[in-house]
Amino acid sequence: MATAAALLVAAAAGAVGAGGLSLDFHAASCPQLEGIVRGVVQAARAKDVQLTAGLLRIFFHDCLPQGCDASILLDGEKSNGPNSSLQPRALQLIEDVRAKVHAACGPTVSCADIIVLATRDAVSLAGGPSFQVPLGRTDSLRPASDGEIGTLPSPFFDVSTLLDTFRSKGLGDPADLVALSGGHTVGKASCSFIRANDDFSRGLAANCSAGRPGTKQSLDVITPDAFDNRYFVALRKTQGVLFSDQGLARDQRTSGIVSEFANNQSAFFRQFAKSMVKLGSIKGAAAGEIRRNCFRPNNRVNNLRDIVTALIDDTAIVALTRAVALVVALRNRQAGGAACSRVGPPPLPPRRGRGIVGDFANDQQRFFSQFPASMMKLSQLIKAPPRRQV
Ligand code: HEM
Repeated sequence: MATAAALLVAAAAGAVGAGGLSLDFHAASCPQLEGIVRGVVQAARAKDVQLTAGLLRIFFHDCLPQGCDASILLDGEKSNGPNSSLQPRALQLIEDVRAKVHAACGPTVSCADIIVLATRDAVSLAGGPSFQVPLGRTDSLRPASDGEIGTLPSPFFDVSTLLDTFRSKGLGDPADLVALSGGHTVGKASCSFIRANDDFSRGLAANCSAGRPGTKQSLDVITPDAFDNRYFVALRKTQGVLFSDQGLARDQRTSGIVSEFANNQSAFFRQFAKSMVKLGSIKGAAAGEIRRNCFRPNNRVNNLRDIVTALIDDTAIVALTRAVALVVALRNRQAGGAACSRVGPPPLPPRRGRGIVGDFANDQQRFFSQFPASMMKLSQLIKAPPRRQV
């Protein structure tokens, strides 16, 4: 049997996948992308293995309601309904990765693509399959509505309702439901979600509730932190934690697939990779953007730090820095200050600015033509609509 790490699944049929996504979308604009993502996820996971589960659930909760568009990171969705128990550290990790990727490549990669890549890497780092994922998503301009968030399945659903839910999102093969439920091979559930209809589950629920407040129960009772097929082995022994999980081993439409995955980890890994690519290809809204901060749309600027962050990648910062220096110098001169000679331009941004400063120093016309454009940009940022109340 192929080892987990060695199993490479060419999950997409060709270079261009569903929804215009493609395997090499960022190859030219950000060749370092995959290395950066993997490095950051690996370092974070070395400190906290639970991040694999955190990312995997974020990916599912982002993609199912309205397509993979990083709407899950926005206020109004991030902590609504079932999303309130997403791992905060995993949410922050996505923004941390984005900051590193944008520092290297500029704002070319969406937060939605970063969720997909980071999740894919977290799965393989936990012992799961390695597979390729098509890229090229954009980030949503707004969070999903409560109605869309409400399409996420409940742990108290029976198999018919789960199959209907997945089918309505384009995941119509029962193997999609079974393989993706295999995401519960890692991670934990709150005590209140544990099924309680037999001695095993009642024992689990009692132990869980007897623990410290906030104690959770591992979803895979055999190998809680490893990405493997033991979750399915547990289901066959009636040791599933959620009602929705245990049902898969009972229903005739899904029980054969549960047995196959329990007996053959490679079969599970192959189907999981295929279904993840399918789930990751659910299309978001047509209008999107590349967010400069994964936690808010670009038109929402809340403070000076956001303005500076938005401008920092831009040649505009150099023109503005220069202009501020000139204004300060003029005001000091008008005040008769003797300190004129000490008022130099503020420190220049490292590397990026130097060539542009040289240009402006040599060519006043170039500075004068950049300056109004940058001022216009700045005023548009400041006039952005106020934060939406939720
Ligand atoms: C089939 C329908 C599903 C239901 C009903 C369901 C339900 C749940 C519930 C109730 C929890 C516990 C939440 C808590 O107590 O905080 C949970 C956790 C989790 N779910 Fe699902 N889930 C489903 C599908 C999926 C899918 C498709 C994936 C990913 C492919 C997934 C990945 C996870 C992970 C990794 C956790 C643990 C999160 C953590 O420890 O932070 N789930 N799920």
